[in-house]
Amino acid sequence: MNVRKIERIEDLRAELALRRRSVESVGFVPTMGALHAGHASLIGRSAGENDLTVVSLFLNPLQFGANEDLDKYPSSEAEDLLVCAASGADIAFCPPPSELYPGGFSTYVNMDGMTAALCGKSRPDHFRGVMTVVGKLFNIVRPDRAYFGEKDAQQLAVVRKMARDLNFGTEIIGCPTVREADGLAMSSRNVYLSPDERAAATCLYRALATAGKRIDRGERDAQAITDLVSRTIGAEPLAELEYAELLDAETLESVGAETESMLLAVAARIGGTRLIDNMMFDRAKPGKNGQRS
Ligand code: PAF
Repeated sequence: MNVRKIERIEDLRAELALRRRSVESVGFVPTMGALHAGHASLIGRSAGENDLTVVSLFLNPLQFGANEDLDKYPSSEAEDLLVCAASGADIAFCPPPSELYPGGFSTYVNMDGMTAALCGKSRPDHFRGVMTVVGKLFNIVRPDRAYFGEKDAQQLAVVRKMARDLNFGTEIIGCPTVREADGLAMSSRNVYLSPDERAAATCLYRALATAGKRIDRGERDAQAITDLVSRTIGAEPLAELEYAELLDAETLESVGAETESMLLAVAARIGGTRLIDNMMFDRAKPGKNGQRS
């Protein structure tokens, strides 16, 4: 399958205007490139549910803090285009940074509340950068549906709320985390791990799975659950826990009587690499397949 690479906003708009004459639905998968099987599953899902799928490959400088990994973030455009084509994408939008952030750019999307939770504590400007670029991309592509991985559960909750709050008219679809055989969640950042760190990194999944069993047996005490996660990660010498929290998956506030889905989220450094992972559980279903992904 052929994928058409487009670099300019104007060209993408013209192409979409033309294609919309014959297609009913446009699906969109925003990415920062360095595509892996998790991205391929988002693209495949979009291709299966829409007449046309647009993937963006754009390493967004706005969502990286001063001491983060923007400069070393993996990039592989030629391979990414092959993944796009093999997964069913029609258009790959690959703008240079100056196309999305021309000189004088000074308008940003902010959100009160949930962006300060979890990753927002150590990455205070991260979600402003994510929302700004996703908002811009939504305005350019005008997708009917947009696909995000549940691995970035806070990003998914934030984008879902932004789309609702700002009336984008795009349906936000969360897709299950894709894992390596030993449970490690697929991430573009996994390539930073040395062999020892790669082995150690499975502690995130092990911690979530152990706590998940406790939740499935009916445990609802957030402190007991997160203590168990902390102990499992604490037992791994190469890991340094940043947070382990059990929150309402939609609001990212404490679990309450209104909570339908609970998010058990964890962030840890393995050597110099910061990794995140999570699992979601139906609050009302102790002991019976409460775990959703
Ligand atoms: O999840 C990502 O790769 C990025 O945060 C996104 C959504 C493409 C915005 O740059």
